[in-house]
Amino acid sequence: MAAMEITLHDEPERAQGDERFTVELPDGRREQLRVHDYDKVYAIPGLYEAVVQERLECASPQVLADALSAAVADAGEDVAALRVLDMGAGNGVVAESLRGRGVRAPFVGLDPEPAAAPAAARDRPGLYRHYFTATLEEISVAGAVAEYDLTCLAGAGALGLGHVSRHQIETAWSAFGVGSWLAVTFSEAVLGPEGGELGAFVTALQEGDDTDVVRLERFRHRLTMSGEELFYYVLVARRAA
Ligand SMILES: C[S@@+](CC[C@H](N)C(=O)[O-])C[C@H]1O[C@@H](n2cnc3c(N)ncnc32)[C@H](O)[C@@H]1O
Repeated sequence: MAAMEITLHDEPERAQGDERFTVELPDGRREQLRVHDYDKVYAIPGLYEAVVQERLECASPQVLADALSAAVADAGEDVAALRVLDMGAGNGVVAESLRGRGVRAPFVGLDPEPAAAPAAARDRPGLYRHYFTATLEEISVAGAVAEYDLTCLAGAGALGLGHVSRHQIETAWSAFGVGSWLAVTFSEAVLGPEGGELGAFVTALQEGDDTDVVRLERFRHRLTMSGEELFYYVLVARRAA
């Protein structure tokens, strides 16, 4: 089968998420899309990986999986025992990375984009035991924690940019029990003067008594469509009380 032809648009003025690319499919169809056109991107098998993982060299899923598994090992525990709620799960790239680091139990996914759950089932069958097509506010996170015995809330590239809000993650994290893990990546701007509500959330985690932040590391998240480097942080934390 002929490969897809992908052309990234070199338009440095476009904001992250508004960047465009053109894909020409083996059947001759041409579409101009943004990465954040998740409905259309997930509908085409292999397109998300070809653009985001390969061309833009997105490292967030692997960096998150490495940081979380190293933190769990540092705590003298077994990564295999984690039971993960993967927020903003998309078509399963993060869960696949975590599986590669030894997480054994099937994942619980969550993503409000209706095309995401079918794409995950198509591309990575069997990885999720349950997949919510919803935001964190639209489900009972406490109910999911109890039903699936969840011990980890994870999300790569899922915070900010109109995705998971501070309110959503703060409320969801509060539903996890003592000893649970939190692993997220977010733009470096979150820790800057314009960090807004998400920045305040990270500060509250660092200064509060109920969560220990055990890792906070800057890394190159991905390239923009015009080749500039975008930096993110990976944060790993543990509920202490
Ligand atoms: C940049 S993608 C990352 C996908 C996946 N985590 C990965 O790294 O491959 C962000 C995902 O977050 C989802 N999303 C958007 N708003 C959300 C929300 N409020 N709650 C959970 N997920 C959301 C999008 O539909 C999209 O699938």
